[in-house]
Amino acid sequence: MTVRTEDPQRALRDSLGMFATGITVVTVRSPSGKPFGLTVNSFNSVSLEPPLIVWSLATHLASVNAFADCEYYAINVLAEDQQHLSQRFATRDIDKFAGLELREGLGGAPLLDGCCAWFECRNTLRHDGGDHVMFVSEVVRHTHEAKAPLIYFGGRYRSLAPGV
Ligand SMILES: Cc1cc2nc3c(=O)[nH]c(=O)nc-3n(C[C@H](O)[C@H](O)[C@H](O)COP(=O)(O)O)c2cc1C
Repeated sequence: MTVRTEDPQRALRDSLGMFATGITVVTVRSPSGKPFGLTVNSFNSVSLEPPLIVWSLATHLASVNAFADCEYYAINVLAEDQQHLSQRFATRDIDKFAGLELREGLGGAPLLDGCCAWFECRNTLRHDGGDHVMFVSEVVRHTHEAKAPLIYFGGRYRSLAPGV
């Protein structure tokens, strides 16, 4: 069934929402020591050799300069039981890191406890992409846990079906 809507941006969002993704929290530490992080589902792989990943950041966000200027940042892939972290890191004007168990990654980027994978990335290349800037970055270190990931589809959080 084709669903039609009058609002072209809403229609584009709805079509894009049919592409199921995981959810990540991308983190960085500014030169002054302040941590930044946001929920991101535009993450994807680009290349194995060299190891490159991509994600995009809305240019109006306050963390743009911290990410653009850093040498390293981290991508925390959320596990199924971390929906609260996705919501927290998509909320403006709160202390997103308050009370969290953290480790320090390269460049001091915060690594969140309990995730299913972590990628520590060198800030290699950036490309303008409309109202976003795309980061194409080299994976310097990575690790993962045997945990089910948090899924995002149709604008809602989902779990993998049991046994999948
Ligand atoms: C599921 C989900 C995925 C998101 N993906 C992105 C993304 O890929 N890029 C982006 O710039 N913002 C994305 N956002 C929005 C940011 O997380 C949100 O604007 C956040 O408040 C930004 O942090 P700030 O307000 O502290 O600047 C996403 C939000 C959600 C809930």
